[in-house]
Amino acid sequence: MKTVRENGIDGVGGLVAFTSLAVVCFIVWLATGLTTSWLIATLFYVAMASCFLYTTLIGKQKIWDQQLPQLTLSTDTRALDIGCGHGMVLFKIAHRLPAGGHITGIDIWRQQDQTNNSLATVTQRIHAEGLDQVAAVQTADMRELPFADNQFNAIVSSLAIHNVKPKTGRLQSLREIARVLQPGGQLVIADLGFSCNAYRQELTRLGFHDIQVTSTGVIGWWGGPWMPTLVLRAIR
Ligand SMILES: C[S@@+](CC[C@H](N)C(=O)[O-])C[C@H]1O[C@@H](n2cnc3c(N)ncnc32)[C@H](O)[C@@H]1O
Repeated sequence: MKTVRENGIDGVGGLVAFTSLAVVCFIVWLATGLTTSWLIATLFYVAMASCFLYTTLIGKQKIWDQQLPQLTLSTDTRALDIGCGHGMVLFKIAHRLPAGGHITGIDIWRQQDQTNNSLATVTQRIHAEGLDQVAAVQTADMRELPFADNQFNAIVSSLAIHNVKPKTGRLQSLREIARVLQPGGQLVIADLGFSCNAYRQELTRLGFHDIQVTSTGVIGWWGGPWMPTLVLRAIR
């Protein structure tokens, strides 16, 4: 329960849909005299809901625990977490930063994207963990970042950019990332598979190099292998 309180549940609508389908199939299974096909359908949706819940509560954390050792952090680091939500990645980075480094998180706090996220919650946690000198959060839309050109040398984003609709908004967010990230700066994006492939194309066009897209495997499945999490790393 602490994990749910601290990090919320991503895309809760998906979880509700899978659980509702499992319940409907279960009822039909009972009503149709315990036919095997409805039992299989029930188990299928239970598996999808369980897989989704695992990824949002545990898998996503593991993905970033695997990625962050490859992010170079120094006393000069000026990092930005785009769509930080409850700050899962922001706190992991803040605790790793050497003295002098800093990370800023931005979000518009949409409840349908992550339950109970808010500026107040993250601000309180920053204070409670003694990170006031290291981390800060503010309300801002990733399509219009309130920062100067080249202000950051590392940008991360975890499962946030795909929430921007339509696609033109996602491409606008990538242009904003390119604007505020210094040449030579590091970019790490974890996002849904279909989105990451489009990001690669746009980032190439924007002049990013050393772009690598990797799969995160079963720990990043949002209900099944058809909805995987990919990680994109690139240098501006
Ligand atoms: C699925 S949550 C992920 C949060 C966090 N990065 C994590 O991995 O736990 C996506 C976040 O993106 C935020 N978001 C959606 N659209 C946004 C936008 N246009 N600008 C900034 N944040 C946005 C949502 O409010 C939400 O907190």
